[in-house]
Amino acid sequence: MGASIIATASERNHDFLRSRGAEPVTYGDGLAERVRALRPDGDVIADFVGGNLEATLAVLADGGRHASIANSNVEQHGGEWMCVSPVGADLQKLADLVDGGKLHVEVAEVFPVDRAADAFRANMEGHTRGKIVIAVDQDA
Ligand SMILES: NC(=O)c1ccc[n+]([C@@H]2O[C@H](COP(=O)([O-])OP(=O)(O)OC[C@H]3O[C@@H](n4cnc5c(N)ncnc54)[C@H](OP(=O)(O)O)[C@@H]3O)[C@@H](O)[C@H]2O)c1
Repeated sequence: MGASIIATASERNHDFLRSRGAEPVTYGDGLAERVRALRPDGDVIADFVGGNLEATLAVLADGGRHASIANSNVEQHGGEWMCVSPVGADLQKLADLVDGGKLHVEVAEVFPVDRAADAFRANMEGHTRGKIVIAVDQDA
């Protein structure tokens, strides 16, 4: 779509972000300055972690748009609070994009259902790269 993307992660994931077409920056203290050094005004900012409102407002261009899946307070600052809605028709559109090679879903790990507790533990660590899948054995 012609957008240039800056994305946050810890350094061990920077090559991965580059491989997905984004310019990586490290999160934490000084995030806004690091982003501004790459691009002074962000037209669109998406927060997938929470706790980033201050940095978001610091780098957002006048008239820019921002949204968060992890901080409902964004609505008080002109942003959009977004929630997953598992609607079949929408999920089918996403599945079609995956089938067409236009959307890539990175899977960190697949757990059998009897290890669901381990799957939740891994997710709670907050440093998985991509999705954790709990697979139900259809034949069981
Ligand atoms: N609204 C909704 O519908 C919805 C849906 C799903 C999740 N959520 C919420 O979204 C949040 C994230 O959930 P998740 O399961 O997607 O998380 P996750 O996959 O565990 O996210 C971890 C990723 O965020 C990076 N990260 C960790 N701390 C960060 C920070 N302080 N600043 C920037 N990046 C950071 C990590 O990078 P490194 O590993 O490189 O450190 C890692 O890539 C949770 O609060 C969850 O409740 C909301």
